[in-house]
Parts: sequence; structure tokens; C-alpha cells
Amino acid sequence: MEEGKKVLYSAAQPTNTLTIGNYIGAIGNWVKLQDEYNCFFAIANMHALTVRQVPAELRRRTLSLLALYIACGVDPEKCVLYLQSHVSAHAELCWVLNNYTYVGEMERMTQFKDKSAKHADNINMGLMDYPVLMAADILLYNSDYIPVGLDQRQHVEIARDIAQRFNNAYSPTFTVPEGIYLKVGAKINDLLDPTKKMSKSAENPNGVIFLDDDKDTIIRKFKRAVTDSDASIKYDPENKAGVSNLLTIYSVFSGKSIKEAESEFAGRGYGEFKLAVGEAVADKLAPIQAEQARLLADKAYLDGVLKSGAERAGRVADKTLAKVYRKIGFYQI
Ligand code: TYM
Repeated sequence: MEEGKKVLYSAAQPTNTLTIGNYIGAIGNWVKLQDEYNCFFAIANMHALTVRQVPAELRRRTLSLLALYIACGVDPEKCVLYLQSHVSAHAELCWVLNNYTYVGEMERMTQFKDKSAKHADNINMGLMDYPVLMAADILLYNSDYIPVGLDQRQHVEIARDIAQRFNNAYSPTFTVPEGIYLKVGAKINDLLDPTKKMSKSAENPNGVIFLDDDKDTIIRKFKRAVTDSDASIKYDPENKAGVSNLLTIYSVFSGKSIKEAESEFAGRGYGEFKLAVGEAVADKLAPIQAEQARLLADKAYLDGVLKSGAERAGRVADKTLAKVYRKIGFYQI
């Protein structure tokens, strides 16, 4: 950890295959921030437990997500990459923070309501407690900034509330974190329903570009993307949700600004535009996929990254937890 640098914290769940939404809104952005901050990036396998998982799949996806982080350019020499369940302080702080969080607040969380509707047969306590565990993740590391997609904004806000509540009840203990959201790309939408977030658990996979999709699949999905009948390639999220979403994706994957993309495609047809978007995405993902596969063949290396990550994260987290235990009156020997 470098003195004087602010702390940046984020995580993703090892559930399903990640999408270009996760890449644009999170991991790709982390890569750009890793030099400026002391970064902690976790694999949130404890959060994953809130919906039923097949154990062998969860295990496999854990390493696969670690390999993906690294393949995308997150550098384990610069950042602390670790598995949430390897640092027991997360569960312990979560328990403490539960006592400073109200049931009513948790019932109002949009994601809780959505997931409860989707998994009506399994509205478990973990699902409801999910934001408190996320607050524990963030607060253990004295995190200043949390780069996430807009779907996580409410959870970052509640983490701030919990931190302030605890600080007021005792004395300043936690850094109050701030969410950071991309101007372009904080919410990538579904290709078939461009008013809805692109989600790795979407019912129809044709609206979602998964990070392991091959070129043909990517091109095919973009060809089917919903646009409009207006035939102009202009960024206007309110009136042209589909085209604006495609322009955002193209901008991120080609490295061009939205303005540049608009002029590049001025006067050209949607068919040609969609093909260009598909090609930009496929060309960027191919080397990431190859690097991820290469890393996955080297399990010893990945295990080493996790071991060192757990030690480095554990040291910081245990210190914060000890401070919390002291403040709340847990007898220490
Ligand atoms: P998860 O695994 O659902 O998503 C990982 C990250 O990807 C972002 N994201 C998107 N961004 C733009 N457009 C989209 N369509 C899109 N879909 C997903 C998410 O906002 C997120 O940044 N609870 C978190 C993981 C977590 C966490 C944390 C994050 C656990 N502890 C502490 C920050 C800090 C989650 O389920 O992300």
C-alpha cells in the first residue's frame, strides 16, 4: 500500500458469466484507476450464496473470475485481489453492522425487491442482508471510492448511512465512502430491451453479450439488437434508447468519443452500424478470452494470487475489526 494514495474498493460476484455491462461499468474501469489509488478488488462469493448455487460451479467460476480480472488488465502486483470468504472479518463486521441497520431500510432496497420477485421460493435472510455485507466489505478497508455501475448506487448509499450512523454512535471509526459512476457506461442496457439493464441472469441470452461469447455469436446478437424506425445514429437515451446504448458500447470498445462515433456513422444505415459495433466488441474481447484461458491453465499462479491477496486484505480488515470490537465494548484479551 502506498502512503498518501486514496483507497478504492470494488467487487463482482462469481455468478453466471459476466457481461460487457460488467466489463464497461466495472472491471474495465478499474484497470484505468489502479495506478492512482490503493485498490482492493474482491470476488464476492459470499454475496453469491444469496441465490442457490451449484457448489462445483461456484468453485469453478471463482477462479474463472479471478483469471478474468487479470486478463482484463487488473494487475495483482498493484492491487489486492482476493476472495471474500478468505477474510473472515467480512462476516464478523456484517454481524456488527446488522445491529445498526433497520429492517425497513433493507425491505426498501430495489435489488431486494427485484430478487425477491424473481426467487419467490427463496427469499432468504442473506438476500435481505446483502447490502449490509456489502457495507462491511467497503468499510473494512477504509475505502474512499467505490467504482460501480448505477445498479449498485443504492447499496453504496446505504453503506454511507451505516458508516455515519456508527461514527455518530461512537466516534469516527469508518471512512464514509463515495460511489464513483462513469459518465458513459454506468448502465449498459439489454440489446433486446434497451430500457432494461443488461444482466448476467437475464432470461433471454440474446439481449446479453457475455464475455465468453465468440465472434459469430457477438455479431449475431448485435444484428438483432432493437433500434428504432428513425434511421439516424444519434445519442439520445430518452428517445433512442437502443441506438444510444449501441453508441455507448461502441464508444467504450473503440476508444472513440460518442461525438466521434456519431460523425463516423452519419448518414450510414443501422445494419452497417450494428456490424461495426459487433466487430469492435469481438476484437477487444478475443485477446482477453485467450489470456483468461492461458491463466486458467496455471492454477498454481492463481492460487498464489489469492493467497497473497487474502493475507494483504486480512491484515487491513482485521485491524479495522479490532477497532470496531474495542469501540462497541467487546472484551479483548
Ligand atoms: P455484480 O457482480 O452484479 O456486478 C459487478 C459490477 O458490474 C456492474 N454492472 C454494470 N455496469 C454497467 N452496466 C451494466 N449493465 C452492469 N451490470 C453490472 C455493477 O454495478 C458492479 O459494479 N454487490 C455487487 C458486488 C459487491 C461489491 C461490494 C461492489 C460486493 N461487495 C463492495 C462494490 C463494493 C454485485 O453484485 O455486483
